[in-house]
Amino acid sequence: MEPHLQDSVDTARTSEEIREEFLEFFAQRDHEIVPSASLVPEGDSTLLFTNAGMNQFKDVFLGTGQRPYTRAVDTQKCLRVSGKHNDLEEVGHDTYHHTFFEMLGNWSFGDYFKAEAIRWAWELLVDQWGLAPERLYATVHEGDEGFGLDADEEAYDLWLEETPIPEDHVLYEPSKENFWMMGDTGPCGPCSEVHVDLRPEAARKETPGVELVNEDHPQVMEIWNLVFIQYNAQPDGSLERLDDQHVDTGMGFERLVAVLQGKESTYDTDLFAPLLQATCDLSPRDEVRGYDDLAIDDEEEREKARIALRVVADHIRAIAFAISDGVMPSNTGAGYVIRRILRRAVRYGYQTLDLDEPFLHRLMDPLVDKMGGQFDDLVDQQDFIEQAIRSEEESFLKTLGTGIDFFERVVPYVEDLSSKDGEATDEILGDLQQDGRAMDLLEQAYVDADDEAEILRSFASVAREEAVPGPVAFLLHDTYGFPVDLTQLMARERGLSVDMEGYEDLMERQKSRARAASSFEVDQSDVNAWQPVTEGEASSVFVGYDQESVGDAEIRAVRTVETEEGEQYELELSRTPFYAEAGGQVGDSGILRIGDEEVAVHDTQHEGERIAHVVDHLPYELDAPVEAIVDTDRRRRIRAHHTATHLLHAALRETLGDHVQQKGSLVAPDRLRFDFSHFEAVDENTLRDLERQVNAAIRRNIPKQEAREVPIDEAKERGAMALFGEQYGDQVRVITFDPDYSMELCGGTHVDATGEIGLFRFLSEGSVASGVRRIEAVAGEAAFDHVESQLDEFTQARRQFRSLQDPLPDAIARLQDERDALQEQVEELRHQQLAGRLDSIISEGATEVDGITVVTGRIDRADMDDLQELGQELRDKLGEQSVGVLGSTGEEGEKVYVVATVSDDLIESGVLQAGAIVGTLGKRLGGGGGGRPQLASAGGRDAEKLGEVLEEVPALVREQRG
Ligand code: ALA
Repeated sequence: MEPHLQDSVDTARTSEEIREEFLEFFAQRDHEIVPSASLVPEGDSTLLFTNAGMNQFKDVFLGTGQRPYTRAVDTQKCLRVSGKHNDLEEVGHDTYHHTFFEMLGNWSFGDYFKAEAIRWAWELLVDQWGLAPERLYATVHEGDEGFGLDADEEAYDLWLEETPIPEDHVLYEPSKENFWMMGDTGPCGPCSEVHVDLRPEAARKETPGVELVNEDHPQVMEIWNLVFIQYNAQPDGSLERLDDQHVDTGMGFERLVAVLQGKESTYDTDLFAPLLQATCDLSPRDEVRGYDDLAIDDEEEREKARIALRVVADHIRAIAFAISDGVMPSNTGAGYVIRRILRRAVRYGYQTLDLDEPFLHRLMDPLVDKMGGQFDDLVDQQDFIEQAIRSEEESFLKTLGTGIDFFERVVPYVEDLSSKDGEATDEILGDLQQDGRAMDLLEQAYVDADDEAEILRSFASVAREEAVPGPVAFLLHDTYGFPVDLTQLMARERGLSVDMEGYEDLMERQKSRARAASSFEVDQSDVNAWQPVTEGEASSVFVGYDQESVGDAEIRAVRTVETEEGEQYELELSRTPFYAEAGGQVGDSGILRIGDEEVAVHDTQHEGERIAHVVDHLPYELDAPVEAIVDTDRRRRIRAHHTATHLLHAALRETLGDHVQQKGSLVAPDRLRFDFSHFEAVDENTLRDLERQVNAAIRRNIPKQEAREVPIDEAKERGAMALFGEQYGDQVRVITFDPDYSMELCGGTHVDATGEIGLFRFLSEGSVASGVRRIEAVAGEAAFDHVESQLDEFTQARRQFRSLQDPLPDAIARLQDERDALQEQVEELRHQQLAGRLDSIISEGATEVDGITVVTGRIDRADMDDLQELGQELRDKLGEQSVGVLGSTGEEGEKVYVVATVSDDLIESGVLQAGAIVGTLGKRLGGGGGGRPQLASAGGRDAEKLGEVLEEVPALVREQRG
């Protein structure tokens, strides 16, 4: 194969070196190297996952946020698997789409603009990395009447002035290609893209690359997008000019590595090679030796294996990074996206690579090897991620095989029925009807069908349209855990589609059943807008770390919000000591004094940049000074719980290990809740240890050390614990209780020294989700109250036992013994009573039939066990040449039982059998039964027939005598 690039590119660079050189290139040009933001965008409900490098800087572009630098460079973790940018379907089938990828980017926030962005892009690609200028093309925006924008001649000219690019390599392109928007609204602007033509010399001579730019040619592709952010797109489609001009660039890292390593595809680079090889090594298929070493003759089969390998190598990255950013596979939202990706990978491994044991988690080693240097979270959380993936794989593999069998049993009929009519259909349906297993499965799928005929009719009508019927897809989803896109994929492999309408219909019905079962409704009511009272920025100053009241605040804005309970009033102050709910800590309450008037604050919440005080009414005077006073007693209780949470977190990590990560918390005045990653229940002894550890830390009376505005890197370097997946600003607050014990990034309020907490007690420990445990506990006065109420209960119990001397457990054990003894006596008495009844039956109910003694009788309220026991007794008492039949109706007379006994001599001489007798009796009573020849029993529903059936026994004996 001809090398892709001219010799001036050093194709021996590793991906690590390329990433490093990119960051370094811009760092040398005064760019701050910033870490990738989490894959889960914070405070942006329009995005499930981060899908571009600029997501974390949206506020800076819009002018609502600031950073301590005006130039930045990073590599950003991105996932394009949902919403506007969704590539999941293509991944694996071609050689260049990915779910997870890194986007390299450099930014200017109101600093440099087009000229530098263009010049530096060229310098890096051509001068430093050696790409051939004749292979590069630049595109610029051709203008857009709809937006009222002229062509970006400035960018066009700058390409020619700043770089030696040939003029015929600069192209004007329409908005579709060269106007970049984050979404329908938000920061946007015209952009300029760099494209590279990787075709061999001859092909390039034949068709000039300029004709293939933006034509989806796999070897003529965009590598870098330079966006000149100047507008904020409005909901009505118009563009509002921003105060400043910014630069936002994005370059797909994997693609860049492929280009610089002279590879045809991203999967051939060192980013994926170790993952592909590890997957091959795990596959039990001998032919699967390596991604480029597949001993499979059939070309189609070979390509199938390559697709599966690509899917696995791509998906493990998405799954691992998502989990490291706090997204656990689940049934909703982002968690469901990850579950679907994981199941897609497991299924490809299972069907194509014979991987029928959990295997994905075993790819963590090569992944951490490759990526851990850049992404610490992956290293720190490796064990946890492995366990999370493993348990998810295990649970899916339990049903995957059966689901695939189901699919493969039923879907061939869909293939046969495709586009057929009349006789042919009838014949195929005839075969299907004979296929018992397939019909059983279809009966489970078509729960609403009245009979087989209806199932077949409905199945055929969809199958004729070359579609897998909705009920089949739904059963696969509901019972076997197949995400519907997996079923679609499997259908597509057979040239079929899935009847999505039928599927959605069943999903909808299931959802409305679930909705009906719970009364939960989301409140969609509109939120009223804020009414400004005084001039000023829409952001409040929080002074509550140092003060619990302020005397001279101004009201900034007010609003009324419609809620389900009625109107709610909110108020914003210029300065406030009230803590707004954040980081699990509930909002403060208290009062506001305005002149003579007092307004109660029930809660405090963040509303964008504002701190909203939720008040019982709006004050009459809005422009008078406000005295704001926090409920200090409540604040004190909250504070004790927050510090206790930190001590608990530290104790958990020390005792259980470093895989323990905080997954959520609630800090309230009356309790705390702490969710953390851990795979098994914490046993009682460990809990006791933990409780002792926390209480010991309390007794040490460790003073609080608070450091505000610490640069995040410095905080992390010092070892402060940060929450995975949590977005922090560049400056953070660090709360320390003994640098060797607990140091956390935290915005909450804390005690001055741990002794203030007084006491800590657990309330409960349990599971909230796979791999996540929850502890509830109380601290301070709440802990004291809790202990007191437990003691009260205990004292009360002691009093009830009237034995203040005996230890309580002994008294309870004695009571239990007494109860057991009494129970035994009751049983004994009941039995004696029933046995007494047996004696009178023998003396009253015996008849002779041809020399055989036949005894029948009723022992009502005896259950089947009693009856069998009594039957045995009766048989022993009667001896040779005898038949006994006892009957009983159940407690409420709704059921009836009979037992029949036959003596051994009658059985041996072949005269009678108990089984035959109860067979007839059971039928007469509307039921059935069976048993041994000596003793058999039957049950039925027609209790009222028992009397007449017992009377018929002698006649029956005569009849059955053989
Ligand atoms: N924000 C631009 C993109 O995502 C660079 O392509």
